[in-house]
Amino acid sequence: MPWKRALADKWQAYLRQQMEIGGGEVYLAAGQRGSGAGGPESLAAPQPRSPAAPPAAVSWQRGAPPIPGPGLTIDLPPADLLGDGLGTLDTLTAVAARIAACTLCGLSKGRKNTVPGEGSPSADLMLVGEGPGATEDETGRPFVGAAGELLTQILGSIGIPRESVFIANVVKCRPPQNRKPLPDESTACLPYLRRQVQLVRPKVILALGATAAESLLGVRKSLGELRGAVHSYGGVPLVVTYHPAALLRNPNWKKPTWDDVRIARQLLDR
Ligand code: URA
Ligand code: URA
Repeated sequence: MPWKRALADKWQAYLRQQMEIGGGEVYLAAGQRGSGAGGPESLAAPQPRSPAAPPAAVSWQRGAPPIPGPGLTIDLPPADLLGDGLGTLDTLTAVAARIAACTLCGLSKGRKNTVPGEGSPSADLMLVGEGPGATEDETGRPFVGAAGELLTQILGSIGIPRESVFIANVVKCRPPQNRKPLPDESTACLPYLRRQVQLVRPKVILALGATAAESLLGVRKSLGELRGAVHSYGGVPLVVTYHPAALLRNPNWKKPTWDDVRIARQLLDR
């Protein structure tokens, strides 16, 4: 029966996501739990529980943390004060074209491509990373390397298709050796991101990693200090979580990330 097969596939994909983000203990019997090396492939074929209950639609809610209280409030300049006439650019495509011609900071000298960001122009969820890496610089697209694959899985785990969000970075050109963007580089580039936020008008912003969060919020604080609150970015609720590249290095951060994205998910539903 085709629907049964489709449901089994859905479960398989869902469980794989749960494994990846470290939520597996909730859904898998102890004997089935992957240990990294064996990984998702070693899972027994999952049994659909009930055809009436598509898994991803409900399961992220189980054990989800409550929405935390307010954090920092950032006021954005109105469009006409963004500088460089950015406020007159009325489409994301126009902003991307302006970025492609940008020479405001030194990063422009080393780039192959600018990486303005991509996704749905009417996204409810906007993700903000730090800056392009090598693959992003090659392709002109954000989060297309290993960290990007994990990001796609994390979104899937809360029932959000990657195509439905908008993904951007604080800086639009690759820093050499993937170093952190310097303050003057972030400062030069941030107006583009602000204009992108004004045009997309997301319901929620998710900042990926301390560098993105610090730049957006204009503070020097650790990720630990910035997580666990709902900040306000020009009136848009902003949640801070780990960068997916950090999760690849330290899987212990997957569980807190799972909690953070479930907070973001609840804010989307609010
Ligand atoms: N890819 C991006 O586009 N941004 C990051 O911050 C990391 C990888
Ligand atoms: N993970 C991040 O993404 N940033 C930090 O500062 C620490 C952990």
